[in-house]
Amino acid sequence: MTDPTPATGCPAHPDALPLSGPRYQQTPAELYRRMRHEYGPVAPILLDGGVPAWLVLGYREVLHVTGNDQLFARDSRRWHAWSRIPPDWPLLPFVGYQPSVLFTEGAEHRRRAGAISEALSGVDQFELRAHCERVADELIDAFAGSGEADLMADLAHPLPLLAAIWMVGLPGAATQDLVRDLTASLDVVEGVDPVAAYQRVQDRIQHLVAQRRSGPTADVTSRMLEHPAGLTDDEVVQDLISVIAAAQQPTANWIGNTLRLMLTDDRFAITLSGGRRSVGQALNEVLWEDTPTQNFIGRWAVRDTQLGGRRIKEGDCLVLGLAAANTDPQVRPDAHAGPGGNHAHMSFSHGEHQCPYPAPELAEVIARTAVEVLLDRLPDVVLAVPAERLVWRPSVWMRGLEALPVEFTPSYAVGPAR
Ligand code: HEM
Repeated sequence: MTDPTPATGCPAHPDALPLSGPRYQQTPAELYRRMRHEYGPVAPILLDGGVPAWLVLGYREVLHVTGNDQLFARDSRRWHAWSRIPPDWPLLPFVGYQPSVLFTEGAEHRRRAGAISEALSGVDQFELRAHCERVADELIDAFAGSGEADLMADLAHPLPLLAAIWMVGLPGAATQDLVRDLTASLDVVEGVDPVAAYQRVQDRIQHLVAQRRSGPTADVTSRMLEHPAGLTDDEVVQDLISVIAAAQQPTANWIGNTLRLMLTDDRFAITLSGGRRSVGQALNEVLWEDTPTQNFIGRWAVRDTQLGGRRIKEGDCLVLGLAAANTDPQVRPDAHAGPGGNHAHMSFSHGEHQCPYPAPELAEVIARTAVEVLLDRLPDVVLAVPAERLVWRPSVWMRGLEALPVEFTPSYAVGPAR
C-alpha cells in the first residue's frame, strides 16, 4: 500500500495496519481493495491503543469464521489481550463481556437466541408496517411545513427506535424521555451522561419485565417471558436491551444510506422525472455497497489454527470485515454489474450468531416504510447540499452519514391517521 500509517511495532503483527483514520470514513471500499491486494484475505490490524487483531476481508474466510463457532467463538473473555486494555478503552462497550445473548456460546446461546427469534416471529409484519407508516407520518409532519430537513436526525434515527420500543411493548407515554436516554446510551447526546441514561433505560425495561411477568400481553417481552427456554427476568432485561440496540443503529443507517443512494444516483432518481428503480433494489444495493455494519468485532480463536494463510493463535481477536467480504472479487468478479436480485451478502453476518431470523425482515419493513412514506409525502425532495459535501460518520464499525440535509416544497401535515 502506498501510505500505510506506521505500525506500532507489535512483534506478532510487525506490518499491522491501524483500523482507524479518515480512510475508513470516506472511501472504505477502495481501502479494503488495497488491503486485500497487500495482505490477502486476512490482514493484521491494530485496534485503538495499538492492540493487535485480525481483519477478515475475504468472503470465504468470513463464511468460515462465522460458520465454525467451535473454532471461532463469541465470548470475549477468551481474549489473551485483556491485560493491555485500559478501563477507558473506547471499544469496551462493544467488546467487554456482558451476560447477554451476544456473548453466550453453544447450547446456552441457542436457548437465548431461540427465544428471541420466536418472540420476534410473533410480530405481525403488516401491523409493523402500519405502525411505521403512522410514526413516519408524524415525524414528517414535524418538518413538512418548513421545506427542509435533516433526514438522519428527523427520520432515519428515530423511526427504528420507535418501532423497536413498540415491538417490545414499552408504553407510548414518556416515549420522548426514553428515546433520549436510549439514544444517549447508544450514541453521543450533548448534555446527557451515557452511564446514567443507560441505567434509566435498564430501570424502565426491568419495570416492563416485572409488569409482563404478572400480566402478559401480545408483545415481544411477554413472548420471551413465556418461552419454554425459561429465561430469568435478568436474562430477558439483558436481551431486550441487546435487541433494541441491535435494531437501532444498523436500521437507521440502512435507511440513511438508501436515501443517499436514491438522492444521488440517476438510476434511482426520485424527482418527478420518473423512471426510477425500485426502493427494494436500492435497499439491496446498499447492503452490498455501503452496508451499515461495515466491520463487526468479533470472534475469538478457541485454539491455534490457520486462516487465509495466517497463523491464528488461541485467544486472538478477529474482526469480521463484512463490507470487505461483500466486495470480494472472488465472489463478485463483476462488481460493476450491480447485485441484481442477489441477496447472498454478509451484511447480516452468517452462522450461529448472525442477525437472528426474522430480524432482517423486520428491519426491511421498517427501512422500506421510511423510504416509501417519505417519497409519497415529499415527492420533489432533493439534496440541499452537493453530494460530495455529505459527511460519513468517523467510525470504522458503522457506515452512516452525519446528516442528510434535503429540501422540498413545503406541505401540510396529514395528521394522526393515514
Ligand atoms: C429490527 C431490526 C434488527 C433487530 C431486532 C436485530 C437483532 C439482532 C440481534 C439480537 C443480534 C445478536 C445475535 C446473536 O449474537 O446471536 C444481531 C446481530 C447482528 N445484526 Fe441485527 N438486528 C436488526 C437489524 C439489523 C440490520 C439492519 C443489520 C445490518 C444491515 C444487522 C446486522 C447484524 C449483524 C452484522 C449482527 C452480528 C452478527 C454476528 O455476530 O455475526 N441487524 N441483530
